Amino acid sequence: MAKGRILSGMRPTGKLHLGHLVGALENWVQLQNEYESFHMVADWHVLTTSYQDTANIKQDTLEMVADWISSGLDPEKAVLFVQSKVKEHAELHLLFSMLVTTARLERNPTVKEVVRDLNLGTNVSYGLLGYPVLQAADILMYKADLVPVGEDQVSHVELTREIARRFNSLYGEVFPEPQPKLTVFARLPGLDGKRMSKSVGNTIELGDSPEEMMRKMKTAVTDPKKIRRGDAGHPEVCTVFTYHKRFNAEEKEEIEKDCRSGVLGCVPCKENAARKVAHALAPIREKRTKLMSDPSVLEEIIEDGTGRARAVARETMNSVRSVMKLWND
Ligand code: TRP
Repeated sequence: MAKGRILSGMRPTGKLHLGHLVGALENWVQLQNEYESFHMVADWHVLTTSYQDTANIKQDTLEMVADWISSGLDPEKAVLFVQSKVKEHAELHLLFSMLVTTARLERNPTVKEVVRDLNLGTNVSYGLLGYPVLQAADILMYKADLVPVGEDQVSHVELTREIARRFNSLYGEVFPEPQPKLTVFARLPGLDGKRMSKSVGNTIELGDSPEEMMRKMKTAVTDPKKIRRGDAGHPEVCTVFTYHKRFNAEEKEEIEKDCRSGVLGCVPCKENAARKVAHALAPIREKRTKLMSDPSVLEEIIEDGTGRARAVARETMNSVRSVMKLWND
């Protein structure tokens, strides 16, 4: 039986952090063996909110792809490519844009959230409103069966299914209806206990040095009721304990017990967590340093992946133009 296909994308925000690793990358790495995998750098999507500041997009793309590969994505197995290098995405986005009403897009909860977070008020660009339509083009271009995403992206996959249905019924069966594949993970919180995000400044980056990790871990919030060593702690509300659970499985029972009894203070507990995270990430950090020391290798990997993506995109666009009775190449 032919392997199913997945497509996922990530906006290039530069260096990735532990939240990306635990929340998405580890899942992608696992899936690359079971599915024909396409992973896209969504650089045009970045423009929907950061169009004023474009200077770092190429460098951020390289940093992100370096993190992908260092975390275990294998460019021989998975197709790693850059959205803006496959111009067909723009063409399919334009054709799809005719099939969606602006009212439908204005109802999208994730776009609403971005508008709220960025305080845009009524200053919503045409491009931002169309963000999910571009995403539908990304997904359907590769006729993906599954889209591994987090909860916040499910509404986009739903719109993608609607567009596929509408297109197929108007012009002819070209697209399958993709399903979201939710990442099953206990989310790893940022150092302040909130969602880990670069813009909040509560991250540990995959490429951070052990010293940097130690410094950052010392700022992590713990159980507010445990003020000094000897006080009984509550691991279930402690951010540092979530790191132990994920990166220090061998000692986690003992730590839990000693925290509750008060024998273990927060300072040594944090130092231990930082060492364990640094240890787990050492191979990723090493690979990352090597990849970044010669970006030409990375560029070649991206070129190769983009070529493979483009071949699929060309085929899809040929069928699209053909069923729509448009001029073909
Ligand atoms: N919208 C996604 C995000 O913000 C990124 C993305 C772009 C994407 N195109 C995609 C995700 C296609 C999955 C499939 O994270």
